[in-house]
Amino acid sequence: MYRSHTCGELRMEHVGTTVTLAGWVQRSRDLGGMTFTDLRDRYGLTQLAFNMEVNADLCEQARKLGREFVIQAIGIVIERSSKNKNMPTGEIEINVTELKILNAAKLPPFTIEDETDGGDEIRMQYRYLDLRRNPVLQKLRLRNQVALETRKYLDSKEFLDVETPVLIKSTPEGARDFVVPSRMNEGQFYALPQSPQTFKQLLMVSGFDRYYQIVKCFRDEDLRADRQPEFTQIDCEMAFVEQNDILEMFEGLIKHLFKTVRGVEFEGAFPRMTYAEAMEKYGSDKPDIRFGMEFADMTDLAHGKNFVVFDSSEAVIGISAPSCSEYTRKQLDELTEWVKRPQIGAKGLVYIKYNTDGTFKSSVDKFYSEEDLKAMATRANAQPGDLILLLCGDLEKTRKQLNELRLNLGTTLGLRNPDVFKPLWVLDFPLLEWDEENERYHAMHHPFTSPKPEDFHLINTEPGKVRANAYDLAMNGVELGGGSIRIHDRALQSQMFDLLGFTKEEAQAQFGFLMNAFEYGAPPHGGLAFGLDRLVATMGGSESIRDYIAFPKNNSGRDTMIDAPSPLDEKQLKELGIRLRG
Ligand code: AMO
Repeated sequence: MYRSHTCGELRMEHVGTTVTLAGWVQRSRDLGGMTFTDLRDRYGLTQLAFNMEVNADLCEQARKLGREFVIQAIGIVIERSSKNKNMPTGEIEINVTELKILNAAKLPPFTIEDETDGGDEIRMQYRYLDLRRNPVLQKLRLRNQVALETRKYLDSKEFLDVETPVLIKSTPEGARDFVVPSRMNEGQFYALPQSPQTFKQLLMVSGFDRYYQIVKCFRDEDLRADRQPEFTQIDCEMAFVEQNDILEMFEGLIKHLFKTVRGVEFEGAFPRMTYAEAMEKYGSDKPDIRFGMEFADMTDLAHGKNFVVFDSSEAVIGISAPSCSEYTRKQLDELTEWVKRPQIGAKGLVYIKYNTDGTFKSSVDKFYSEEDLKAMATRANAQPGDLILLLCGDLEKTRKQLNELRLNLGTTLGLRNPDVFKPLWVLDFPLLEWDEENERYHAMHHPFTSPKPEDFHLINTEPGKVRANAYDLAMNGVELGGGSIRIHDRALQSQMFDLLGFTKEEAQAQFGFLMNAFEYGAPPHGGLAFGLDRLVATMGGSESIRDYIAFPKNNSGRDTMIDAPSPLDEKQLKELGIRLRG
């Protein structure tokens, strides 16, 4: 037996007990006559005490213990003379009688403390050491709890956990596929699933009725704080449902998770908003509604006053930043520079200060009278003391830029409290999205999403206007999940592929299996998938999902710990029938 107790469990009631502990040396303090060593494991820290007068040899041995040595200590639990209230085991210590080094350790490349001196890169390279740190451990425990409670909830609702294959066929779901060469079928490739989308639909055709899976998905896309090339979905599908059945079922899941894992209860139903409204009010399909600062369309007020910049713009949109009318020249210049960065791309920023005395001062005073400015302030719902900021240009771009500015100001003004959670269902997404570069339509969600019957008549004349039975759950500015009611009819699915520019042959080659299945009694069905990494990070109050993944990739998609990806040797390539170009 390596240990009788963990390092987190001994209390006053154990005083007098002989115990065996095992773990890692967190730190040692040598106070002359006494040496104290904090022993750490997953469960906590326990102080080991070595007394020079009682056992000089043992004390000498303890003094030589380096950080992160793995040791085993046998001793008696005693009451501490100076108790540490900040530590769960702080009332006791172990009077050590035997010490064994199980494994010595090199000095770690960064300190294994809550606040480490290690930068991102070195911590990722030695991720197994980083994972010893308590804050990182706690994040993965949170993830474990969320996954466990997800299973409990879905199991209680009769969902079956079914595994689907990882070596599949390339299906266009928006991102690029990761591909895997097949040795046995030379010149042919599997793709790793971007999601189990088609399989879960086939399971509905099979009559499984309620499916779920906590499943790895793979997408070869540009990475950001909330994107990893491999990530995890809570993937779900239901048969004989309408949109509302799905929203209610999964709203129930989110409520269950927040209640059981975070102790947060949501009152009433989650608010719902159409995509069109979300874009108009927030310029985003995943608005952060923890704070206001809704968009105000000023186009009509801004046009016709000889200000060429506004006159030549399709849209002039503003937001009102609360209590910011005293922003200095420097602060305004910084904001202007910020919106002009290439990542945002605005041409400039117009401000209107609504002073506390009710007067106005703006960067466009030359063109707009006090009354004009007041009308804009009223439109933006501004109060004296607020600062109104305006962007202009192409409608869609201006909305996107103003969304960035709104979020940036929300953060600066402390309006995005990570302990406040504001879910929002975004409904009625457009079915299709125009791809400027390739001059064709793409499915906005995926090609299996059904159009709204009431918009169906527009499908050939104004396809861009057709809305889909598609929905997302946003929370705090993050898209936590999304899904749709599916097409379950071969003819409609085939028509959809036509619209997306597939020839009949291409559609049959890529999706024949699904369309054929629809001919054997496919029930009406729909579902959704949550991004587990994003859900857990949001619950933990973070925007970055990397900390919530045990072994994440960096921004170039590399795992620097195992050094992947890496080249294949010639023999392996040959076996796969692959010759590299250049
Ligand atoms: P979608 O593509 O919207 O839908 O993905 C569902 C959710 O997965 C998360 N997500 C990601 N998380 C981390 N890194 C990524 N690269 C990444 N990409 C997506 C998001 C997103 O909301 N098959 C459909 C679902 C359905 O229709 O049922 C699908 O995959 O949180």
